[in-house]
Amino acid sequence: MSAGNLIDGRAIAAQIQNELAVRVAALKARGVHPGLAFVRVGEDPASKVYVGRKEKACADLGIFSETRILPENTSEAELLALLAKLNSDERLHGILVQAPLPKQIREAVIYSSVWADKDVDGFHPVNVGKLMLGDPTGFHPCTPAGVMELLARSQVNTSGAEVVVLGRGNIVGKPMAAMLCQKGRAANSTVTICHSGTRDIKAHCQRADILIAAMGVAEFVKADMVKPGAVVIDVGVNRVSDPTAKNGYRLVGDVDFKNIQPIAGKITPNPGGVGPMTIAMLLQNTVRAAERM
Ligand code: GUN
Repeated sequence: MSAGNLIDGRAIAAQIQNELAVRVAALKARGVHPGLAFVRVGEDPASKVYVGRKEKACADLGIFSETRILPENTSEAELLALLAKLNSDERLHGILVQAPLPKQIREAVIYSSVWADKDVDGFHPVNVGKLMLGDPTGFHPCTPAGVMELLARSQVNTSGAEVVVLGRGNIVGKPMAAMLCQKGRAANSTVTICHSGTRDIKAHCQRADILIAAMGVAEFVKADMVKPGAVVIDVGVNRVSDPTAKNGYRLVGDVDFKNIQPIAGKITPNPGGVGPMTIAMLLQNTVRAAERM
């Protein structure tokens, strides 16, 4: 198949941002200026890039943002003290603590300390619980929410579909599966989660009408694992060393795109697929948080 089967995440994200601009204007008309805080601990190069992109997206949409950068050796208590301040700062409707955190800081402690109403990442146990319960008042994690939106806006029928999710992480795999199996037209899938303990991952993948790769292994999904006509969503971002590249590495997804694109029904490019959608969903969650004010 030609490039006609590409799911253009950049175009879909831009469309969502246009829709959000109308809501931001309405908020400002009633005196509410949406605000979001970013917290980055340490100098993880990927985190720097991600936070930079999120800051720019906020600026483009007219959301106020401020970024707090803490050193790698920050203690858990110091980070908690900062979060207490950000929680009570009325200019801020959302708080995002970029993962991964240094090993002396327990992510579970941090993510339960951001107020659930400001948890635009959807990582607080209350929001995780609301997702599991199908309670729409919570925030959904941005990356799997972005995948749901990509599927819906690409007219992929998820209802009754066999979906295989590769990866069981808290940021993507687990919430992705929870969203897909909810009752409702835009979900209603039969979901299998595969992970490092799964026997015969290939056989599971070959059954999938929709295959979502989020396990963080470079080009793990090969063409012989994909049913012809399947929808393939690549969430992975992996650094592989490449002496011919300027920085000595290049970024690849979890999917062997070149060999799978010709047989897939629809497929996300990477970059330009899921990544922009994560940012669009963060903006959407922040606008929702502000609309509650
Ligand atoms: N690291 C990778 N993805 C994410 C995300 O969606 N939110 C945060 N806070 N950190 C991440």
